[in-house]
Amino acid sequence: MKTVTLSTLQAFKRAGETFSCLTAYDATFAHAAHQAGVEVLLVGDSLGMVLQGHTSTLPVTLEDVCYHTRCVARGKGASLLMVDLPFMSNASTERLLEDAGELMRAGAELVKVEGEAWMADDIRELTRRGVPVCAHLGLTPQTVYQLGGYKVQGRDADQASRILEDAHVLVEAGASVILLECVPASLGRAVAEALEVPVIGIGAGPDVDGQILVMHDVLGVTAGRSPRFVKNFMAEADDIPGAFRRYHEDVKARRFPAEEHCF
Ligand code: KIV
Repeated sequence: MKTVTLSTLQAFKRAGETFSCLTAYDATFAHAAHQAGVEVLLVGDSLGMVLQGHTSTLPVTLEDVCYHTRCVARGKGASLLMVDLPFMSNASTERLLEDAGELMRAGAELVKVEGEAWMADDIRELTRRGVPVCAHLGLTPQTVYQLGGYKVQGRDADQASRILEDAHVLVEAGASVILLECVPASLGRAVAEALEVPVIGIGAGPDVDGQILVMHDVLGVTAGRSPRFVKNFMAEADDIPGAFRRYHEDVKARRFPAEEHCF
């Protein structure tokens, strides 16, 4: 695989070619995912749930994310490395800039922030300083207590047009990528069609530009009930590299997500 950059993702979008993304938290799994062809790796703050055993992503610290970023950076090969800014990094612009700087120093190539249109000024400040940003919209796990649970977002017309409008505002402010979580497939399609930047979806239907899943879900080892948008690729593979390959190939061929994974 050639080194994946933001330009690669933009070229995929222009060519109508979809791309695969997967969370990774250490060098060994990052290497396996890269070998399988996965184009983007995310050090997600989901590490708080799948590695640390918390019930939300809120307890994850900047130090935690930096540690896992350094690990993944050593194994990621040519894949693009996206990293989550943890809960409350956006408490002030100064803190956001400092935290993003730490992540970039640890090896991030794209930082992901949760937030709506009100984050526009901060995203402008980050991109002005050379920090590429992915803006995470829809179900934003850091606001789970405000949302009242891990629920589908954008189901009604008002909510859907607000998410679309937020995406426009954040791209205008400099976001290079949008990530949409847990929204109806029709909204995923509308956002991807409306924007020139790549839109990555998790539970956002088949018509976005790239797909992402949490590694533990792909391997079928997540404790408790899995959300509808998840697929256990281990069930169709002989080993972990095979499951990653199957996931990558199914995304590239647009076999995943299927209708049963969509809202
Ligand atoms: O932290 C994470 O793993 C994420 C994914 C749900 C996209 O943000």
